[in-house]
Amino acid sequence: MAILVTGGAGYIGSHTVLTLLERGDDVVVIDNLSNASRTSLDRVAELTGRVPTVYIADVLDRQALKIIFADHNITDVIHFAGLKSVSESINEPLAYYQNNVTGTLVLLDEMQAAGVNRFIFSSSATVYGDPQSVPLSEHSRTGGTTNPYGTSKLMVEQILADFSRAQPDFRITCLRYFNPVGAHPSGRIGEDPNGIPNNLVPYISQVAIGKLETVSVYGNDYPTPDGTGVRDYIHVMDLATGHLAALDCQNKGAAYKVINLGTGVGYSVINLIEAFEKAAQTKINYQFVNRRPGDIAECWSDPSLAYKELGWKAVYTLDEMMRDTWNWQKNNPNGYSI
Ligand code: NAD
Ligand code: UFG
Repeated sequence: MAILVTGGAGYIGSHTVLTLLERGDDVVVIDNLSNASRTSLDRVAELTGRVPTVYIADVLDRQALKIIFADHNITDVIHFAGLKSVSESINEPLAYYQNNVTGTLVLLDEMQAAGVNRFIFSSSATVYGDPQSVPLSEHSRTGGTTNPYGTSKLMVEQILADFSRAQPDFRITCLRYFNPVGAHPSGRIGEDPNGIPNNLVPYISQVAIGKLETVSVYGNDYPTPDGTGVRDYIHVMDLATGHLAALDCQNKGAAYKVINLGTGVGYSVINLIEAFEKAAQTKINYQFVNRRPGDIAECWSDPSLAYKELGWKAVYTLDEMMRDTWNWQKNNPNGYSI
């Protein structure tokens, strides 16, 4: 019996693969390495003393999926594979719909053909668009996404809801992540963005290590306590355990579930910079600039359903998130490249 993890070489995938191997599950990974390094999984093997089976292939490749399902007794699929850059999605919408939507359709089709019917999907708080109020619960309104990335996540959720109604034997959980940050406490695996990071925490850590000069804080006139954007940052190891909890509860409750994975606490950009300064014992240069188009003021979760349905809650503090991000950055100044 094995768990198929698509996108398992990526940031969240590699931490989840590690956590699965640590508890004794067998893991098969499919990843096309479009946004990852094979080294992440070598390090997972080094940390756990166990080796996942790895296929360097695309989820759009039906033949590869047929081989995987034929050669392994897969019971569950965790589907991380996809493209995730908001800005890139605006310039390359077809690539985003192709990878994120068609990729999921092909995978579901091949699962069905192979008789595998337990599926966990990486969704995102982006499906809530610009929230009318916070905290966001799973009943909050979705829609109003402003970029093809966000729309692709919403479309897949809709497809999964329709598919679940037609195929009640399928067990499907959509996990809506808030803002994943941090790294494995060993400092051996972590987030390794290509080029200049778009996201706040990788940007701050590259300023701390001296690769970038100054953090541009996008807006200080939001209706938030200090005027900067507020988000629900969650440690990637908490996300990993959230996936294990979802796997364990896949046969309980409704056949189709949608669950937030967040901490329930919102922190501002300035809170993050200050926490990082404490972790890295260094000053982070920053300057206020205009708001970034498409950004929202506040986004944080009501995480109570995850506790009720999965018995899971996030345990890492903001200081621990920044400590582990810094530990990863300082030990791997160039990420997985030497
Ligand atoms: P990531 O880019 O590090 O991981 C995605 C992995 O999928 C990469 O290893 C990439 O090489 C692989 N991949 C992409 N397209 C593929 C394809 N067609 N076939 C096979 N492999 C493919 O991203 P991540 O941060 O680990 O995110 C994982 C999932 O979680 C994504 O679906 C993302 O949209 C979702 N998510 C991420 C965030 C975030 O901020 N990191 C927030 C919410 C949701
Ligand atoms: N920010 C800055 N400077 C930067 C980068 C970000 O001030 O250089 C601010 C943003 O304005 C926002 C906060 O930091 O207030 C967080 O921004 P991120 O880019 O790190 O994250 P977002 O909340 O914008 O987006 C993230 C994921 C998306 C996902 C979205 C909702 O990157 O994929 O959460 O879940 F869609």
